[in-house]
Amino acid sequence: MRAMTVTPGKADSARLGEVAEPPAEDGSVLVEGLFTGICGTDLELVSGHFGTGRPGHDQLVIGHESLGRVLEAPAGSGFATGDLVAGVVRRPDPEPCPACARGEWDFCRNGRYTERGIKEMDGYGAERWRVDPYFAVPVPAELGSLGVLVEPASVLTKCWEQIDVVGRRSWYGPEHVLITGAGPIGLLAAMVARQRGYDVHVLDRMRDGLKPELVRALGANYLTDLSELPVVPDVVVEATGVGQVVFDCAKLLGPAGVMCLIGISPGPASIDVQLDALIRQLVVRNVAVFGVVNAAKRHYADAVDVLQAADPAWLRRLITRTVPLSDWPSALVREPDDIKVVVDLLA
Ligand code: BGC
Repeated sequence: MRAMTVTPGKADSARLGEVAEPPAEDGSVLVEGLFTGICGTDLELVSGHFGTGRPGHDQLVIGHESLGRVLEAPAGSGFATGDLVAGVVRRPDPEPCPACARGEWDFCRNGRYTERGIKEMDGYGAERWRVDPYFAVPVPAELGSLGVLVEPASVLTKCWEQIDVVGRRSWYGPEHVLITGAGPIGLLAAMVARQRGYDVHVLDRMRDGLKPELVRALGANYLTDLSELPVVPDVVVEATGVGQVVFDCAKLLGPAGVMCLIGISPGPASIDVQLDALIRQLVVRNVAVFGVVNAAKRHYADAVDVLQAADPAWLRRLITRTVPLSDWPSALVREPDDIKVVVDLLA
């Protein structure tokens, strides 16, 4: 069958590969792949800086943002032929560590977790894939192809859950939220923030085009320079991973502010900062800065909820380009108005 393959550790190795049918050990639910989304992690995989193949294999099937349709599922699995399904990315480490043992593989403590399409497991970018029902997320039929956004949205539902957990260390009633970066993650963060009723401000470099339109359509404020921010943010969701932006935003936070780092930039980059002045500000204001990655199973269910609560027309505009599997490497070449690019696994 056809699949999106790379050779981990080798740059520019993205190919339309011919691979064996998915092995039974991947799980009892057999799925026809419909769509897979491309994100920054895939670009890193393709650059050869990141990623590991299944043990004994030098090729990796990539694709961790998935949507498929069930072809075969055993009785009692909770799935039936024809159901839409998305796959969970991470698997707990075999030991397991205390976090993995309680289903919080996203907080794995020993780094021995595996990830579909990223680390030691083939991904979902194939005409067919298998998954264990426990790691399969039911996608309501009404979401249709928008179900491909479940995985990126799961990272955001985790992000907001963790902001709440950190925020509740003291009095907590966030009002003003700053989001930096209007890519898929920043836009989904803004969408959830608006669903929660916050006053939302989104910073990005793009002066015009789809990004400001999508932000304004949410009822949020769009800015291209932090000096335009009219409020003191209670919460910052930082999705650019750019050191200077992180530094500038951390300084802006109000007392008991919370800043969640969710983006990584390819780097390496260095900036000159007055770190002692920043430390003073963070300390005297009780500011918390923390990072999040990946998602546990509950965050995927929450992701389905936030996508169902969203305007489907708005979500459809996030997917700016659909590339056929036959030509999938062209999904890796960034075009100016790209937000989320997906690969159509049936084409
Ligand atoms: C995925 C996460 C994954 C991370 C690092 C991200 O793009 O959304 O699930 O843990 O990459 O591998």
